[in-house]
Amino acid sequence: MNHPDPKTFHVKSFGCQMNVYDGDRMTELLESRGLVAAEGGEADLVVLNTCHIRERAAEKVYSDIGRLNRKDGSRPMIAVAGCVAQAEGAEIPRRAPSVDIVVGPQAYHRLPDLIARAARGGRALDTDMPIESKFGALPARRRPGPTAFLTVQEGCDKFCTYCVVPYTRGAEVSRSWRAVVDEAKALVERGAREITLLGQNVNAWEGEDETGRCQGLDGLIRALDALPGLERIRYTTSHPNDMNEALIRAHGEVGKLMPFLHLPVQSGSDRVLKAMNRSHTTSSYLSVIERVRAERPDIALSGDFIVGFPGETDAEFEDTLKIVREVNYAQAYSFKYSPRPGTPAADMDGQVPPEVMDERLQRLQAEINAHQLAFNRASVGRRTSVLLERRGKKPGQLIGKSPWLQSVHLETQAGIGDLVDVEIVSAGPNSIGGIQLPGESRGPAMVAA
Ligand code: SAH
Ligand code: SF4
Ligand code: F3S
Repeated sequence: MNHPDPKTFHVKSFGCQMNVYDGDRMTELLESRGLVAAEGGEADLVVLNTCHIRERAAEKVYSDIGRLNRKDGSRPMIAVAGCVAQAEGAEIPRRAPSVDIVVGPQAYHRLPDLIARAARGGRALDTDMPIESKFGALPARRRPGPTAFLTVQEGCDKFCTYCVVPYTRGAEVSRSWRAVVDEAKALVERGAREITLLGQNVNAWEGEDETGRCQGLDGLIRALDALPGLERIRYTTSHPNDMNEALIRAHGEVGKLMPFLHLPVQSGSDRVLKAMNRSHTTSSYLSVIERVRAERPDIALSGDFIVGFPGETDAEFEDTLKIVREVNYAQAYSFKYSPRPGTPAADMDGQVPPEVMDERLQRLQAEINAHQLAFNRASVGRRTSVLLERRGKKPGQLIGKSPWLQSVHLETQAGIGDLVDVEIVSAGPNSIGGIQLPGESRGPAMVAA
């Protein structure tokens, strides 16, 4: 099908925060070429920025593609980006001939060329992982909201036996100190008050600072701490083995680093962790948590869990419930194991029946929810700062985040992007309610209770 040059576009991102970041950068790139953002169904070009982490991810993409056909028989130019694009490549247009462009997560800076090729009636496929970084070829950052993501590290060398990320995102690569600091400055100049540093293994970031000194993620965090106008720093996702002493110390020493750590453990059983090739044990994980808590006693912890990994017994699943109780997470994500083609675990013996997985997931989620509610309830009466991010449903209501990443609802005259002092007055499982205190608070430091 021949497409005229698209004038409007829509980017739809699925999956992790790194995909959200990539989606933002694609949006900025297309806008810099004169295209205008539009609603999904109406746009001349639709980019599906896909995730491949769970089962049926690819099936979902094919049904999303089908839904782009309009009633009058026309359709937009369709680009499939992200991890399904990388994993499936040329298979996508074979199965869905209406797809015009397939572009992997390391190649999307070439999107304008691919669009030009597709507009000439060709089909354009680019799943290279080029040596040159896409970042250098992307336009400068534009207006973020009060909170912004900043990808500092990509890819993964860990090869957990269930996971596709090392195949879809490639080897671990750190962006340079200069590139990250410059991008952070640009985001703050354009209004960001909170920056979340992103990476599939963000705490594996390494680089040389301006003086040529080797630095880890803690050094980068300290450099951002010095940026005037930036109020809050977060980072995600971390691997337990890359939580070194310097980074742990930063939690006690860096004022703008928020008291929240997402540290996936996946299972509470050492046998399962070994079969997952996680390269940490439950006790090494718990020791990291203990050391972080010694530096920052109020830190809120979050994690990821997989139930029903091949061979997981009832007793091993009980060990997962045990570690949830032991860590006392403020929040956590849990998933049923799903075999990903091409990963070692997909061929392992002892695949767990779906009904057993369902039952384990329900029990795990009930446990996690109980801890989450208890954490939120324990914050009632606390006085703290809230960074306002968006409007709520009720008039005059805004929603923001506490330092511990809780969603806080409050009525206020303040605007989006303001940091306000709040007393927490109510708590539910997924959010808390606050009332504003007089005066404006600057930083994340707790106001004396
Ligand atoms: N790099 C991060 C997370 C990457 S993927 C880490 O190492 O923890 C996000 C989460 O998806 C993982 O933590 C894991 O819990 C889940 N996940 C990944 N592959 C999965 C699979 N095949 N089945 C079920 N859950 C999976
Ligand atoms: Fe996947 Fe493991 Fe790498 Fe995380 S550390 S991205 S779970 S392979
Ligand atoms: Fe999904 Fe790729 Fe992120 S598989 S979780 S979008 S790295």
